[in-house]
Amino acid sequence: MKSIVVLNNKGGVGKTTSVVNIAACLAQSGKSTLVVDLDPAASASIHLGLSKDESDVSTLCDYIVNGQKNIQDYIYKTNFINLSCLPSEPSLSEFYDEMLLEQDAGFFLTKEALPQDYKFILFDSPPNMGSLALNALAIADYVLIPVLTQYLALTGLELTLKSVAKVQRRLNPDLKILGYFATQYDRRTRVAKDVLKHLEDRFKKDMFKTPIGINSKLIEAFDARKPIIHKTPSARGAQEYMQLSKEILKLVK
Ligand SMILES: Nc1ncnc2c1ncn2[C@@H]1O[C@H](COP(=O)(O)OP(=O)(O)OP(=O)(O)O)[C@@H](O)[C@H]1O
Ligand SMILES: [Mg+2]
Repeated sequence: MKSIVVLNNKGGVGKTTSVVNIAACLAQSGKSTLVVDLDPAASASIHLGLSKDESDVSTLCDYIVNGQKNIQDYIYKTNFINLSCLPSEPSLSEFYDEMLLEQDAGFFLTKEALPQDYKFILFDSPPNMGSLALNALAIADYVLIPVLTQYLALTGLELTLKSVAKVQRRLNPDLKILGYFATQYDRRTRVAKDVLKHLEDRFKKDMFKTPIGINSKLIEAFDARKPIIHKTPSARGAQEYMQLSKEILKLVK
């Protein structure tokens, strides 16, 4: 089992869209995959049809309240082949920090507790470097970084990288950067091309070759509560996420 945190401190860069769609592609390739939703916004859970509002699911919150026993009881099979999810819910945000203050040591989600019977675990993270993101980074094997192809995105990226370096020094020396990939890439604009070139020059072989373009079918897939390869497999977004997942599979054996 290999675990990957999809991380970027900036909001709206495509973390959740990427977690759900990469996970579905890995699962479709025959690799059983678990999405752990660590974002109180619970967008990945909603995308996979496991919203607490719409169905009677237990969440990571319940796992913690109930004393972190039998993590498997909080994991749901989705409607999609080989793909499971440990859902989140909004109350996780206040609740997690409150609970951390009440106990002496460490994070709630431990490496030992992660189920080993998946080939991949993908963590969706919130858009800040709070305790939930730190928990994921402290127990994961890899961090995967989506970057918007806009100039402002580069400043935010530096902050994310500083935090990752700190985690590597203090919490998880085994944490590796799996790589960077461009999201919401608009091929028609000069700025997107310039930023992509900058990223390729800066990160070299750590930059994935497949940028994820802007594709409204990805938004429609979210609205339909399905990964794009199941909603619109012929869409460009589906093909790009499949291509990116193949690159990931080559790196993480
Ligand atoms: N490649 C894309 N093309 C078009 N729309 C996209 C693309 N990727 C993401 N989006 C849309 O952009 C919005 C933000 O994406 P997403 O929720 O994945 O970002 P995020 O980084 O998880 O945000 P947050 O930090 O708030 O959790 C969503 O409405 C999503 O549907
Ligand atoms: Mg998100």
